[in-house]
Amino acid sequence: MRDYLIAPSILSADFAHLGDEVNAVLDAGADVIHFDVMDNHYVPNLTIGPMVCEALRNNKVLAPIDVHLMVTPVDQLILDFAKAGASYISFHPDATVHVDRSLQLIRDQGCKSGLVFNPGAPLDCLEYLMDKIDVILLMSVNPGFGGQKFLPSTMKKLEQVRQLIDDSGLPIRLEVDGGIGVDNIREIANAGADMFVAGSAIFNSPDYSATINTMREELGQHPIKNH
Ligand code: DX5
Ligand code: ZN
Repeated sequence: MRDYLIAPSILSADFAHLGDEVNAVLDAGADVIHFDVMDNHYVPNLTIGPMVCEALRNNKVLAPIDVHLMVTPVDQLILDFAKAGASYISFHPDATVHVDRSLQLIRDQGCKSGLVFNPGAPLDCLEYLMDKIDVILLMSVNPGFGGQKFLPSTMKKLEQVRQLIDDSGLPIRLEVDGGIGVDNIREIANAGADMFVAGSAIFNSPDYSATINTMREELGQHPIKNH
């Protein structure tokens, strides 16, 4: 069985109580905090930046923070988020001119590097980049908003990327983002994913712990006790 990670997206959290919301999902057993950064340019929405990431670290959040950049350009924000305490930093290849350089920049800061592919984006740039990537993130909705429906075309893409990762022999995570909930997480895992972003499915549920535990049961993992 794969080692699965559940990453609640704080995009759907109550921003008026962000620190408490993050602590609540971590207490409920989340593995990673997914942090969506939008610039009203690469995507039609505007969210949070490095100051908020740093504030979470200053509020004693020790869990990995998975920064998903939906911004262009990316290089300065890579530096800023690394300084702010990000653990993973992922960007979309069409948001930077020199993809290889931006990936290296992330690792040079001591963070895990990720490339994100929109539903309509081809995967061909992966061919020469696999050894520079720690996580491949497939969007299963068009980026910009929480609460959208999972696009079924993602399944085939997940299978393709799982094959690429297995063929490479490299320890690359396969993350998927958008429209994931208790009803489809098993099927998505079967297609090859091992890291699951879920925003509305967790934060819009009445009991974060129950929702995360149900996801783990679907994945065949033992529910994690509150820590
Ligand atoms: C969308 C974001 C997602 C979003 C997922 O652009 O990248 O992380 O928060 O939200 P749900 O799980 O509600 O689809
Ligand atoms: Zn995201």
